[in-house]
Amino acid sequence: MTDIKPTKGRVLSGMRPTGKLHLGNYVGALRNWVKLQDEYDCFFFIADWHALTTDYAETSAVKQNSLEVILDYLAAGLDPERSTLFIQSHVPQHAELHLLFSMITPLGWLERVPSYKEQRENLKEKDLGTYGFLGYPLLQAADILLYSPPPDLPECDRELFVPVGEDQVPHVEMTREVARRFNYFYPLGKWEAVTSELAEEVRSGIPVRRRPHPKYKAMFAFPEPQPLLTPAAKLPGIDGRKMSKSYNNFISLTEDPDSIREKLSRMVNDPRRARLSEPGNPDDCPVGDLHKLFSGDEVRMRTDSGCRTAGISCIECKSLAADSVIQIVQPIRLRRLNLEKSPDAVWKILDLGAQRARDAAEESMRMVREAMGLSHDLGSMRPSARPALGAQSHVHPDLSYWDAERTERGNYLRQEWLQHLPSTIALQVLEHRVYRTATGKRVAVPTAREQAHAPGEWVFLTRDKTYEILVLLCWRRAPNELIDFVIPQNVLQPIWKKFETDNQKKRNRIVRVFKVNGDFLMRVPGGEPVRINDLQAQYSPLER
Ligand code: TRP
Ligand code: SF4
Repeated sequence: MTDIKPTKGRVLSGMRPTGKLHLGNYVGALRNWVKLQDEYDCFFFIADWHALTTDYAETSAVKQNSLEVILDYLAAGLDPERSTLFIQSHVPQHAELHLLFSMITPLGWLERVPSYKEQRENLKEKDLGTYGFLGYPLLQAADILLYSPPPDLPECDRELFVPVGEDQVPHVEMTREVARRFNYFYPLGKWEAVTSELAEEVRSGIPVRRRPHPKYKAMFAFPEPQPLLTPAAKLPGIDGRKMSKSYNNFISLTEDPDSIREKLSRMVNDPRRARLSEPGNPDDCPVGDLHKLFSGDEVRMRTDSGCRTAGISCIECKSLAADSVIQIVQPIRLRRLNLEKSPDAVWKILDLGAQRARDAAEESMRMVREAMGLSHDLGSMRPSARPALGAQSHVHPDLSYWDAERTERGNYLRQEWLQHLPSTIALQVLEHRVYRTATGKRVAVPTAREQAHAPGEWVFLTRDKTYEILVLLCWRRAPNELIDFVIPQNVLQPIWKKFETDNQKKRNRIVRVFKVNGDFLMRVPGGEPVRINDLQAQYSPLER
């Protein structure tokens, strides 16, 4: 078995196991996939879990249908040597990634997917008010992103394409949003390099970037996948409507020549040709569409002009179209008949495909677990590992800050804090200890160490009353911990008032924080203590 060859960008696509495929599936997808095999590292799968999102109540056909689909994949020319062909449920990593994505995906994104409401209304006979049905576009996002080329490849090789029809484009769009969200929450491990640059930015006063700059793309776990729109081929069924299983107007890829002839003879044609002597227009006739898709130039031109000049009968025109369709379907049908004789060999192909898919998927999952702080080894615990959003405090195994000069010490702590902020916050350095939010609010960030003689107490010096937000960074000694309180304007105002009425115009103000029975209280001289527990790690004032 050939190794995974992540050199040309990857392609991933899949179909639900709906049973035997028809000519519409071939023209709309398979024919295109077969071509892509030469240009890309391709993964094509059968989305059996997706089938359960609508057919959970009756699953007896799922395995048989999956087998039918793989037979058609192979017969149509997908090559297990060049592409990785597998069944979704044989690769459990799809489920793991789906679960992790479900943690970060807002419900609104799923409710907004156009097919959600539509299908719930159309398939009234099924109860689609389930968790799985709402979440299936997210399962699809996991299907896609699981096969992201690894991030240590050069940027140009990290491309991921998803050949789909028009109806699936919103899903790929949502997948891009999920990738973006994941990338910003969980940048990959090379933060050290970035943080030193960040530190440089802090020192130099250039805006601090909370979002990784594009040049740090290597730190993005996932590329944003691109839909590859299958050239819109209009393939009508024999009743002239779009060819579809549910309209029962299809020509299957296993259809024998006689049956194809019979179906085509019944195909609707341009009604203007009710009589042989009257000309028609092949552009308004589904048979004309078939000629455009499947006939050679000569036949196409002959039927085209014959139709327009009433020089050919519809019966003959349809018979010629049948010849062309048979020419496409017959080799597929014969290959399939052959494959059907050895289902074991076909299942073996799926086994090997799943093995290969699992290898690629596991590589992605190792990266994902590492990025999210869920890797299976202790080695990846870094002091600068980014805690989840809203983490209450940050634990540091490193006490060396306190060996630094007093002013340096504060800078270290502020830097540490900045690095742990959610990516949606952009603070700009204004002056020493003072930042500016995106909306222009001034933020003072003093730091203090827990008092040696009075554990659970911190004393801050802050200079004047023009700050809209005060962030108190409390460094605890043991365990080494940075506790941050974001004191917003409405809490600050009464305190500054107190300062004003304090008639001695001191420049330095003292703010104390102390911990009593698990509560954190803040007090300014002469004021009442204010309980600030709820302000711990509450970053929203910094966003607005
Ligand atoms: N939802 C797709 C359909 O109904 C099938 C699918 C599942 C898929 N996962 C995918 C397609 C990933 C492309 C990529 O046809
Ligand atoms: Fe259609 Fe052919 Fe008849 Fe023209 S001649 S209307 S293209 S079937």
